Amino acid sequence: MQVRIAHDSPLGVRAGALVVPIFSDGSLDGIAKDVDAELGGVIAGALAAGEIRGKLGEQVLVYAKDRPYRRVLAVSLGERSSFEPYVLARYAGTAARYLGRRKVEEIAIALPPQALGQEAVCASFVAEGAIAGAFDTTLYQERPEARIATKDLLILAHGFDSAEVERGIARGTVLGDAVNLARRLAITPANDMTPTRLAEEAAAAAQKAGLEFEVFDEARARQLRMGSFLSVAQGSAQPPKFIILRYNGDPESTELLALVGKGITFDTGGISIKPAEKMEDMKYDMSGGAGVIAALYALGRVRPKINVVGLIPATENMPGGKATKPGDIVTAMNGMTIEVLNTDAEGRLILADALCYAKHLGATKIVDAATLTGACVIALGHASSAAVTNNEKFAEQFLAAAKPTGERYWQMPYYEDYTAAMKSDIADLKNTGGRPAGALTAAAFLREFVGETPWVHLDIAGTAYLENESPWQAKGPTGTPVRAFVALVESLSPFDSGQGDKAGRSDNAHPAANGARSAELRV
Ligand code: BES
Ligand code: MN
Ligand code: ZN
Repeated sequence: MQVRIAHDSPLGVRAGALVVPIFSDGSLDGIAKDVDAELGGVIAGALAAGEIRGKLGEQVLVYAKDRPYRRVLAVSLGERSSFEPYVLARYAGTAARYLGRRKVEEIAIALPPQALGQEAVCASFVAEGAIAGAFDTTLYQERPEARIATKDLLILAHGFDSAEVERGIARGTVLGDAVNLARRLAITPANDMTPTRLAEEAAAAAQKAGLEFEVFDEARARQLRMGSFLSVAQGSAQPPKFIILRYNGDPESTELLALVGKGITFDTGGISIKPAEKMEDMKYDMSGGAGVIAALYALGRVRPKINVVGLIPATENMPGGKATKPGDIVTAMNGMTIEVLNTDAEGRLILADALCYAKHLGATKIVDAATLTGACVIALGHASSAAVTNNEKFAEQFLAAAKPTGERYWQMPYYEDYTAAMKSDIADLKNTGGRPAGALTAAAFLREFVGETPWVHLDIAGTAYLENESPWQAKGPTGTPVRAFVALVESLSPFDSGQGDKAGRSDNAHPAANGARSAELRV
């Protein structure tokens, strides 16, 4: 999708549809009011008739015979008093999905009056949301009837600061592309998205965005004594890959932010095998890793002044003749021994070595993201991810940065009790602490590998993918935590300090353009 600014007056814009924002109170303002007046009150009439009640993402379509914009789609932003810029991503996503499925190729979209004075932020959300709304879930279909046809999105800047709108489009396009990259990696089934393929995708993203790329194979991981990571991989016929992406935007600085993502390309549970029901969803168990790849990709395109390394331990978790057995003891890179009581608690095992490696590289801050525990889904459902920290100040900074993105993170506590629950009788640690506070004992386990380095752990088990679609989002992967990762980096180093992409061209590629092709690997 190409997102552009349009300077036309809204009522003169030539497009397949004109999208206007409305609120649940039913009173029209801005462009919605002007269009309604021109069309003789059809929008107000539809609202008065109760056609929509005004919940965020509800929409009503009216035909505008003989007008250059041909149709008007009014999309609700929800309650006027609870307006926040991120609802514009949902607004634009709703429009792209509704119109794109009806094969409208060119959409003109209006900003609400609230965008005055915050044009860049608002245009960024519109661009991001439209691109994310157009995410293609039909890659494996021969005749994809549901493929979203929208090619062009025109953001109407009439009456707004157009330089700021342009700036927002540039940022939002990069972010929308990154979100969709993470989602494409996650939705691709595990027979295609193997650790090897994930490494190839990371290499391709690195190439496109000007990042350093490196990948460790099993032999190199063994040299580095990543015994915990390798213990998960040993049951699989697919070779593991430890993927490293580096963005060095501030060579003078010794500060280094490490983003670490769980890259289990399929989680059967291993010998502690999972039940069959919903096991197919475990192709999404690399969502944290996909988020890290996508966030680094975005940073490479925006080029802020900061150093970031992305680490993705990638492997399948399979049962097999060589698989780890319950009771086996393995040794992590830092020398700590771990009694593997349940081979299905594998995420923490691969992250342990990745966190050690982050420290080894000199990381001064660490954030990890993982579809780590079913217990997190029990605690928070699909409404929020959980955040756990060893450093309140860093957590506050992360949470403040993430909040405006629309991704939700709810801080959960750390108590020594949780660490105590992870002590083994026979090794330094065990990999499960039983049912109570399962998300937090998992976090306490990870904490053993970060020491004093400021760290935030994100459990995205309930938010990385959704079973239901919404008006603005297809069912399946959501792109969490890409928006929060990018926002955190932006809060540490404002993007305007760098030299990034200026265009609004989305690379939101069609499968023919980027499908199964792979880049060369530097091993
Ligand atoms: N990948 C799962 C967690 C998960 C569950 C993610 C549901 C998304 C949806 C993880 O590897 C796992 O299996 N965790 C176990 C840990 C337990 C054995 C201590 C769990 O949560 O049951
Ligand atoms: Mn598991
Ligand atoms: Zn898992």
